[in-house]
Amino acid sequence: MPDSQHVLRIEQLRQQLNEHNHKYYVLDQPSISDAEYDQLFRELQALEQAYPELLTVDSPTQRVGAEPSGAFAEVRHQVPMLSLANGFTPEEIQSFHNRIVKLLELDEQQQVELVAEPKLDGLAISLLYQHGQLVRAATRGDGQRGEDVTANVRTIRAVPLKLRGDNIPDELEVRGEVYMPRSGFDVFNQTAEARGVKPLINPRNGAAGSLRQLDSSITASRPLAIYAYSLVIDQNLLPTTHAEVLMQLRAWGLPVSPLVKTVQGSDGCLQYYADIGSQRAQLDYDIDGVVYKVNRLDWQDELGFVSRAPRWAIAHKFAAEEQVTTLEAIEIQVGRTGSLTPVARLKPVFVGGVTVTNATLHNQDEIRRKDVRIGDQVIVRRAGDVIPEVVRSLPERRQQNLLEYQMPTVCPECGSPAEREQDEAVLRCTGGLICPAQRKRSLEHFAARGAMDIEGLGSKLIAQLVDQSLVMSPADLYRLDLSTLSNLERMAEKSAQNLLDELEKSRHTTMARFLFALGIREVGEVTANDLAREFGGIERLRSATVEELEAIDGIGPIVAQRVHQFFGNLQNLEIVDALLAAGIEWPKPQQPDNSAQPLAGNTYVLTGTLEAFSRNVAKQRLEALGAKVTGSVSGKTTAVIAGGDPGSKVAKAEKLGVDVLDETDLQILLGSE
Ligand code: IVH
Repeated sequence: MPDSQHVLRIEQLRQQLNEHNHKYYVLDQPSISDAEYDQLFRELQALEQAYPELLTVDSPTQRVGAEPSGAFAEVRHQVPMLSLANGFTPEEIQSFHNRIVKLLELDEQQQVELVAEPKLDGLAISLLYQHGQLVRAATRGDGQRGEDVTANVRTIRAVPLKLRGDNIPDELEVRGEVYMPRSGFDVFNQTAEARGVKPLINPRNGAAGSLRQLDSSITASRPLAIYAYSLVIDQNLLPTTHAEVLMQLRAWGLPVSPLVKTVQGSDGCLQYYADIGSQRAQLDYDIDGVVYKVNRLDWQDELGFVSRAPRWAIAHKFAAEEQVTTLEAIEIQVGRTGSLTPVARLKPVFVGGVTVTNATLHNQDEIRRKDVRIGDQVIVRRAGDVIPEVVRSLPERRQQNLLEYQMPTVCPECGSPAEREQDEAVLRCTGGLICPAQRKRSLEHFAARGAMDIEGLGSKLIAQLVDQSLVMSPADLYRLDLSTLSNLERMAEKSAQNLLDELEKSRHTTMARFLFALGIREVGEVTANDLAREFGGIERLRSATVEELEAIDGIGPIVAQRVHQFFGNLQNLEIVDALLAAGIEWPKPQQPDNSAQPLAGNTYVLTGTLEAFSRNVAKQRLEALGAKVTGSVSGKTTAVIAGGDPGSKVAKAEKLGVDVLDETDLQILLGSE
């Protein structure tokens, strides 16, 4: 039994930890070291373990702990999450300002007060607080519907689980940007290799990928942070300016960018843009521009929205950065399916905040279009979140005659002939699994998350295994033993054992993962799911005809062809057999007896906005009655159910002669009318 001292100490530790989090993330003034923080944290953890009856959901220790979810639930945003109009030039910002002056019928000379903020390059998030407690976090999604990522967001220490202060409305929604600080990104990538995990491409991708983990303990291991930039609450409770909103957010304990500033008119905006531009390289996070927002909230209301963006705000974007460098070589990369991709090896050049040494040239047509030749001076561009690209060459700077680049006629890795398929821009190695490069890529794919998810089996290790002929096909992985593995370079017995454990674990999977892992062309995770759902076991899928495959919702003729081809290939069948013999298994699907259900055998497509319930609820209720609900209209669709503002799906239905129902019909179907 805990005594009052324990209760007190737990309360004290929670308060201290919350306070330190706040100092660190919101005030940017930490007052203790990480080690001291950890010590307090562990003390609290120990006490809570000893007295689980004292555990609360908003305890700082409870940031990780939710069970991995199968998928993210859909969240319908009460107020849509919009995007911003863009401007690049001073003129565009001036006309943004002038338009506001005109719409508000102000004096022509008046300088509107705006709040200027950095435009963070992360991803938008909505945080719902009820009675001061974080109850839900959702991604932006398409602006109307996002994904419920609460368990993951709870792991971000900068997000308060409980708001501070006392003037807190019963319900409020905070919006902001989740991002990955550059410093955290760098550390993560520097240690990724040693931990056997894939490095992140850039901080923005890192943030997005981290938030979309089904296992929140992975999110917890990622360095994420947040800046809040807006508040959705009852109109009557709202302060009168955006600047006050930001101050309120900060007072509640939410991090708000310290670079936010109130400015006057477009001149003030342009000055801010220049200031932030000059600080950009020193910031610990990526920004792709700045945002200006009309400060007065009543003016914001008056100005309203056009299409999906407010008239009262604009994003002033930084230009994509371009640099000139030398194209030193073109190398050919062989992909999993044999695609031969030319990659530009560049003289290292610093552009858009990173040193770029290579960039894809896509294919022969692209090389010709951009007229790039080995030895050329080329323009390299990198904008915010996008991967660097070679824009074009500078032929006027050519010193001598340079030869046009020709793609090889054989695979550089295995010497098999390279062929271009009809209607395809890419050239492919025809070596199949004879080609060591294709083998490596297939194994990487096989081991990837979403596929067999074999942690610790990274590309370096795969390269060793293939180069030493220890592994020819995925099935060989399951024949590896401890002594073979521990003899490899940089493999201690401990990591060898870990890998064996991981391999063992991966034997128990799902059919969808297994199908995806096989790397059948055109079969991504979604298609693999469709196939698994439809066939349940591999035997029927193996012998399925193209027609049978095409009859499945979501499977088009090309995919059907590819699947059929795959299982028609003897080598593939041998690999599949060997994998099954190695003990790969999945739970057999329980075939629900749909025949008794009123809508069994019917397939519906939902589109537009429904009044009575969200599309997701409608979908669930239809499914509960045995119907199937899919995203695209085809000849197999029973009917399209259209709410307000339906999209192109109604037109498609009409073209195909598929029935179109309205919401009343839906309610009749559901038996609720
Ligand atoms: S305001 C209606 N402020 O930019 C107002 N957005 O294109 C919408 N973003 O999805 C957002 N920093 O993810 C706002 N200081 C900031 C921002 C910001 C980054 C992102 C946000 C949004 C996108 C809009």
